[in-house]
Amino acid sequence: MDRIIVEGGHRLQGQVTISGAKNAVLPVLAATLLTAGRNEIHNVPGVRDVTTMLHLVQELGAVGDHIKGDRVTLDTAGVNNPVAPYDLVSTMRASCLVLGPLLARLGEAKVSLPGGCAIGARPIDLHIKGLEALGADITLEKGYVHGIAKQLKGTHHIFDSVTVTGTMNVMMAAVLAEGETILENCAREPEVGFLAEVLNASGAKIEGAGSDKIVIQGVTSLKPINCRILPDRIEAATYMIAAAITGGDVEVLNCNPSHLEAINLKLREAGVGLEERDNSLRVQGNGELLPVHIRTHPYPGFATDVQAQFMTLMTLAKGRSLITETVFENRFMHVAELKRMGADIVIEGHTAMVTGVEQLSGAPVMATDLRASACLVLAGLVADRDTVVSRVYHIDRGYQDMDKKLSQLGAAIRRVR
Ligand code: UD1
Repeated sequence: MDRIIVEGGHRLQGQVTISGAKNAVLPVLAATLLTAGRNEIHNVPGVRDVTTMLHLVQELGAVGDHIKGDRVTLDTAGVNNPVAPYDLVSTMRASCLVLGPLLARLGEAKVSLPGGCAIGARPIDLHIKGLEALGADITLEKGYVHGIAKQLKGTHHIFDSVTVTGTMNVMMAAVLAEGETILENCAREPEVGFLAEVLNASGAKIEGAGSDKIVIQGVTSLKPINCRILPDRIEAATYMIAAAITGGDVEVLNCNPSHLEAINLKLREAGVGLEERDNSLRVQGNGELLPVHIRTHPYPGFATDVQAQFMTLMTLAKGRSLITETVFENRFMHVAELKRMGADIVIEGHTAMVTGVEQLSGAPVMATDLRASACLVLAGLVADRDTVVSRVYHIDRGYQDMDKKLSQLGAAIRRVR
């Protein structure tokens, strides 16, 4: 298994280019199942979750006739298998995104339940309720969600609470439902709006995606998808924090600053210099970091996917910050590892009290989930000795070439087997 070794103490400088968003490409790959033809997707990030989703849609009958560089072409004419098996779904929760498209396209879906994961139970009851509202008959059998729907029918559905992939799943199913669907209390993440734009370009009739109310007029078929994936705001935020924590000067290219507003606000509060341009951001670490309180929240609030990385930044701030996680019930797995590197953190319920220290010290640490592993690499960038991060397959799930991108910025980082 690979490990990443980081030698701390190098200031980051230069330019880093952000890849396509993992959380945008996964639903788009699932959405290709709604079409019957040759789909072409550009700016696809080279990350393991994408490979997993490609395996899954191919298992369902899509043919990946060309997967090259950052372009994927998928022929979905022959999609005929409604079963998403446990071995694929269990490695990636976002696999459940095929549920809505399969029901709409084939009238049947049998998708393994994703089970628990490191950051909480993460059930899919809200997805199921939304699909049932569209008329699907859903049962749970032997660890599988089995849905049947001869013809989905438009409905008015209010999500009990905000769910990103749940909103996407139900929206995708409603695109081919008969009549009008109104969805309320929807997730407002940019990736939801992006998915709607992609579907509309293929003939869907979706309005309001990106707000909490989405209205969909059902259509009978969609043209194949041809799109370019929007930049990954979480990857961008991670490199911004890398620049800030090393007191560096980094231009983050190919990002959308308007998707990063909550993060930018907090970085500025922490004393970090930020210059926003159309498609890039310049980040300058100004020496002393100020403590900042954050509370994660669905978009446009502070993203839970940046909580761990921001906590690493706060371990070196001059004072005490309070970091409250409200989206997931168990997303402080990185705290124990940061403490092993000398961080002063006390957890009370959903809040971590972080008191800044002078210096972190390198240690062998273990990645527990995708964003937790990124936060350990960030800590390694400023630690006084080598930090060895093991289980880096978590990083590979969502960050394209993280070690290479950081070393291009001047970090002393290497990957070993
Ligand atoms: C998506 C993102 C993930 C991000 C998360 C929150 C993708 C592929 N993944 O995950 O990176 O961390 O949003 O921004 O886009 N919940 C239920 N029942 C459900 C669904 C969700 O109780 O049926 C709960 C979850 O356990 C969690 C909260 O709702 O506590 C939000 O989860 P959700 O927005 O659904 O996260 P994902 O869509 O899985």
